[in-house]
Order: sequence, then C-alpha cells, then structure tokens
Amino acid sequence: MKKITIAVDGFSSTGKSTIAKQLAKKLHYVYVDSGAMYRAVTLYSLKNNIISESYFYIEKLIEDLDKIHLNFKFNANLGFAEIYLNGKNVELEIRSLQVSNYVSKIAEISEVRKKLVEQQQEMGIKNGVVMDGRDIGTVVFPKAELKLFMTASSSNRARRRFDELIKKGDKVTYDDILQNIEMRDLIDTSRDDSPLVKAVDAIEIDNSDLSIDEQFELVYKLALEKI
Ligand code: DC
Repeated sequence: MKKITIAVDGFSSTGKSTIAKQLAKKLHYVYVDSGAMYRAVTLYSLKNNIISESYFYIEKLIEDLDKIHLNFKFNANLGFAEIYLNGKNVELEIRSLQVSNYVSKIAEISEVRKKLVEQQQEMGIKNGVVMDGRDIGTVVFPKAELKLFMTASSSNRARRRFDELIKKGDKVTYDDILQNIEMRDLIDTSRDDSPLVKAVDAIEIDNSDLSIDEQFELVYKLALEKI
C-alpha cells in the first residue's frame, strides 16, 4: 500500500495528538509530536535561565541551539515515541503549565523554528508519517497528501486539558488553563514566522461535538481515500 504524509494542524488542545496517534497506530505509520520539540526547547530555556517572567535572552538561546539535542525513542508500552532532551526523557516534564506558559514565546524565534523544521522534514523523508503541530501542512510538509486542521471552542479545549492535568495530579485551575489556551491562540496565530493558519488544501474538523470514536471514523476514511 502507498505510504502518504499526514499533517495535523490546529489550535492548542484540539485533540491533534489523539487523532494523530490513532491514525499512526492504525496505518502503522510513525507519529511525530512537533509541539513536543518546541516544548523541550522551552524546558531547556527555563532550566538554563534563558527565559522567565522578567527576562528573555534570545541571543543566548540562539547561541545555545547547537547544544540542544532532541530525539524521539519509541516506547512500546505507551505505543508512541517519547522525546529526549540531551539524552534525558522529558516527555512528562514538558507538559507542565509552566512550559505551556512560555512555549509560544520560544516558538516565535525564527532560528528555533528553522532548526526544528529541518529536523521534522528529515523525519518525514520516507513518508508514512503523521505529524501534528501548527505549521506542518503549510511549512514542514506543504506537499502532504492529507492535511487536517483541527478546531474546537476554547471552553471545550480548556475543559479537556484541565481534566487531563487534574488526572495527572497537577494543581491547576480551569481559569488558568483557559487563559493559557487563549494566550497561545493569540501568539500562535499572530507571530511573524509561520503563524498558525489553515493551509488552503486542509480539511477543517471542528470536534467540539464529536466523540473520539466519531472523529476517528471520519478521519480514517479521509486517510484511506488519499491512500
Ligand atoms: O502542540 P502543543 O500545544 O504541544 O505545542 C506547544 C506550542 O508549540 C504551541 O503553543 C505552539 C508551538 N508549536 C509551533 O509553533 N509549531 C509547531 N509545529 C508545533 C508547536
């Protein structure tokens, strides 16, 4: 069977990774979470005093880019690849609200984007990849055979993310999450370099009122049509 490239873009917490993982599993493709890469660079920046509430040393971040090594390793128990930052598994650490609060600022920096996009394109060279993010269908794989653009209302998205974090034991409030989601929407859509926009040939899926199973049925059909 022909292998295609599938790009899944959209707003924060629209369930991009859920659908991308399901598709990758069903089609035996590789799933890549490009947001995890921006999050890992953010974690590095927080740990190395590059960014905080009161400063952002962009020059130092650019200088340090050669010291930031990212790679994914498949975890058979989880069924997807986890991200490693300079050899350390940071899959859990990068999901904190603190990282979420700074990641859009890090993702605005063109030098960061250039480095990560190159790495993402290398991962997709052999096709058979499902990648989720913000610029996958527009910048990383403009020729992807299937492009999905996920949306849902911000209150729906905040509720889902809140439930997820509470389940993990994080002490967060719904309002904090909603504020973070709305702030990221604004920065992600208004940045100069590769802003979040729907590719002209992307199929928009509003999953506010779709169950996970309904969404999968819909998207799997679309994928089979392209294959
Ligand atoms: O998918 P996510 O919420 O984990 O992504 C975290 C942030 O990374 C998001 O707010 C914007 C940025 N990002 C990006 O700019 N480009 C991508 N391809 C993926 C994520």
